[in-house]
Amino acid sequence: MNTLPEHVAIIMDGNGRWAEERGLDRIEGHRAGAQSLRGVIEECGRLGIPYLTVFAFSTENWGRPREEVQALMTLMAEFSRSEADELRAQDVRVVPIGDLDSLSEMAREGIAALARFTEQGQGLTLLLAVNYGGRSDLAQAARTIAQRALAGEIDPDNVNDHTLQMHLYSHPYPDPDLIIRTGGEWRLSNFYLYQAAYSEFFSSDAYWPDFGPDDLRLALDAFEKRQRRFGGRPRPATEGG
Ligand code: IPE
Ligand code: IPE
Ligand code: MG
Repeated sequence: MNTLPEHVAIIMDGNGRWAEERGLDRIEGHRAGAQSLRGVIEECGRLGIPYLTVFAFSTENWGRPREEVQALMTLMAEFSRSEADELRAQDVRVVPIGDLDSLSEMAREGIAALARFTEQGQGLTLLLAVNYGGRSDLAQAARTIAQRALAGEIDPDNVNDHTLQMHLYSHPYPDPDLIIRTGGEWRLSNFYLYQAAYSEFFSSDAYWPDFGPDDLRLALDAFEKRQRRFGGRPRPATEGG
């Protein structure tokens, strides 16, 4: 039996379908999704979960129509501005992960400003995965390690999984214990490929704009019942349960 996960990661999916089922523009789904995020951040803080990652924009999402990509950039900039005071009041610390350089200037600067504004936060650490891809995370880590080896700072013979981990965007935060995907799909879609090695996975049928604190608690209840083995042997049942 597990207690609360130390790190929860959420693949926030289903905004488009939520909107389409209501005859709305997909953008309205993304807008409604931003509201869900507000509620889930608050609930994680209330429960005392130390780390939350939210997957907001993948390296593959650039392949969507230009208007949708632009709307997502605008929403990220708006969210960064509108939530700043509330996040600071909740003692949240926002840490962006991913290749922020390619974002629109407005989104990049908005997110950077939010990170600076909340950097003293001592409560929930919110990892905001924007223009994040597991493969490009591994590639940028390999690039840095290669450069440091050339500079004589790292001995190539000593490169191991720990070296790799130390160069990932998510360093120094722990791997996610629980990955939740909303919208009913069962795939990682290039999220946290390295970090997900021993994560428990939970798929929720709720579209992200409908996902609330109750749905989060369902995922946490399921997590509590999972037996994690990390490649070892199942723990023997203790006397008296
Ligand atoms: C998730 O919702 C948000 C992003 C990927 C940016 P989608 O836009 O993927 O919604 P569906 O999956 O099409 O319903
Ligand atoms: C995953 O959702 C990415 C985010 C939620 C940011 P997608 O909607 O992009 O994933 P696929 O295309 O269904 O695999
Ligand atoms: Mg989707």
